[in-house]
Amino acid sequence: MHLPSIVTDALLTLGQVAAEPQIDGPYVARVISRIVHILCAIILGGGLFYMRTILAPSGAAACFGDRRSVWARWVGIATFLLLASGLYNYVTIVRGEKAAGHALPTSYHMLFGIKFLLALLVFFIAAILAGRTSAAERFRANMARWLKIAWTAVMAIVIIGALLRTYHM
Ligand code: HEM
Repeated sequence: MHLPSIVTDALLTLGQVAAEPQIDGPYVARVISRIVHILCAIILGGGLFYMRTILAPSGAAACFGDRRSVWARWVGIATFLLLASGLYNYVTIVRGEKAAGHALPTSYHMLFGIKFLLALLVFFIAAILAGRTSAAERFRANMARWLKIAWTAVMAIVIIGALLRTYHM
């Protein structure tokens, strides 16, 4: 039996409409993990950007006032949550794609590795600049330089994050 072309066209169009997400436990966990990841990236990256462009030119002391420990705590929280949500995202994305029959290529894992290493660099710089040890004092003597390196790494991380996403949009 031949269906009229208007019906086949309509069916084809319906098939192209993106499916509604299935709202279950794993879906909610994925969305929450993504929100946490982006929020913490904003806190850490935004904080470093503000320090680099606005505060650091007036000297290391201008960066923190008497609230260095408050920023140090946020650096710790953001670092922990970025690591936790990032690893969760990685494992669920890799598993999900494999289960759907299209395992992610090597280049995806290589880009992820570079992103991960750059993130470790950012965590280290953010933590040492906010630290209270004598090593931290030495790093703060070159605040502008370290912030420049950290911010460059943040930009590279965000670009790689966007590229990774194109593998499974
Ligand atoms: C300074 C630290 C970091 C920043 C600024 C950052 C930023 C980002 C951004 C902007 C995205 C894209 C978000 C989206 O489209 O949903 C992303 C995705 C992702 N990030 Fe991070 N991230 C950081 C650290 C980490 C770490 C430490 C890990 C791993 C442990 C990680 C793993 C991932 C993964 C797996 C994705 C999803 C990639 C994909 O869609 O295929 N990130 N990140």
